[in-house]
Amino acid sequence: MGNNDIKSRAVFASRFAAVATTVGSAVGLGNIWRFPYEAGVHGGGAFMLCYMAFVFLIGVPVLYSEFFVGHITGSNVFGAYRKLAPRGKWQLTGYLGIAASLMILSFYSVVAGWTIEYCVASAFGQLDFSDGVHGQFESLTMGWRPVMWTVIFLFCNTLILLRGVTKGIERVSNIMMPLLFVLLVSFCIHSFSMPGFGEGISFLFKPDFSAITPGVLLGAMGQAFFSLSLGLGCMMTYASYFKKGTNIGKTAMSTALLDSAVAVLAGIIIFPAVFSFGISPQAGPTLVFEVLPAIFTQLPGGYVWSTLFFLLLFLASITSTVSMSEISISYFCDEKGMSRRRATLLSSAIALAGGLLCALSFGPLSDFTIGGMTIFNLLDYVASNVFLPIGGFVVSVFTGWVVNRSYLRQHFSVYGSKSPLLMNVMLLFLRWVCPVAIFLIFLNSIGLLNI
Ligand code: TRP
Repeated sequence: MGNNDIKSRAVFASRFAAVATTVGSAVGLGNIWRFPYEAGVHGGGAFMLCYMAFVFLIGVPVLYSEFFVGHITGSNVFGAYRKLAPRGKWQLTGYLGIAASLMILSFYSVVAGWTIEYCVASAFGQLDFSDGVHGQFESLTMGWRPVMWTVIFLFCNTLILLRGVTKGIERVSNIMMPLLFVLLVSFCIHSFSMPGFGEGISFLFKPDFSAITPGVLLGAMGQAFFSLSLGLGCMMTYASYFKKGTNIGKTAMSTALLDSAVAVLAGIIIFPAVFSFGISPQAGPTLVFEVLPAIFTQLPGGYVWSTLFFLLLFLASITSTVSMSEISISYFCDEKGMSRRRATLLSSAIALAGGLLCALSFGPLSDFTIGGMTIFNLLDYVASNVFLPIGGFVVSVFTGWVVNRSYLRQHFSVYGSKSPLLMNVMLLFLRWVCPVAIFLIFLNSIGLLNI
């Protein structure tokens, strides 16, 4: 994937295929694991409200601009910025994207590793609740064990990339993702019967406005970027494969709707259970992995449900990590002239080193903290809350201010709506709303501004 092979670029057959693939990248652990854990830590309703606002007010325009830049240039981040602004230094943000993608890949692989372990444990009937909900997570993720699962996950990811079967994986996931959706809806219905349903729902949906702190705003913005796979140029690369004439505005909107729907479903499943089982919503990254098995054991045929669920979650994760890995691989190939094989092995090796540190930060390295955060939390925090929004800031300023307006106008009338109003609204967002909002949230969170 990169600017060398533009001529031989495959294109997606239809808008459905475009949506399915971008949704494949967007839907992953970010929705099902990260959203409930962040919402729990940041007070539920307040976080949900901010997250939704950011998805639609910042996420959709930034997604639009990534699509736009990728689609008209047919390139990865470096090539795209260079083609549109040859003398600018815009492509420097590509480095930020590479750093962020490798950081995310590191901690993501650990969580995806837990997913495989839970899937295997469920298949062999080994999910055991004799120690209560916490004991379950601890017994499965003690000491060095997560390291093994992280390695296994990265191995699968590398194999897919090396064999060039990402298209195959996407085809599988196009069938499996709707199934995951159906499964989530069924669990969601089951949630209604939980004793903690009312409490869980009001925790998630009733915003306490006084709880909207700078930390909540920053966390919700980071989550919106993370969940929509924004800020790294992932979506830019994907859009370079869109068929001519794809309506990218609609594609951006459908992606955001589907992605946030999955996050909300996950919230409706997790929080009623959190209150029913008396778990603290603030448990952090382990929250979902403590709560889900407790739900499954209550269901008739729980092991079957749970095996299937974790299998689907694993597939959802791997479509996301494949998209993340492409960022550094296409850089090593296109900019450094490496073979694809070497590039893949190099980026996997870096992710492996990071992944080991993250895996151990739940065990032997749990006391090693920087600024009160373990390595796992630190990588997650910096990449999601700082690097991704910077990438989003740059792409929206670039599209709003630098790209020739007539380009945008022409593109809008061919690939989007004919209405000039819609384009002007989009421009307003790209020029002012997104950059200013991102900037203010940053200032606010480092304490320079008190909203
Ligand atoms: N959005 C994915 C998820 O929710 C993760 C992901 C894939 C991602 N590609 C990305 C996050 C690029 C940030 C940037 O699981």
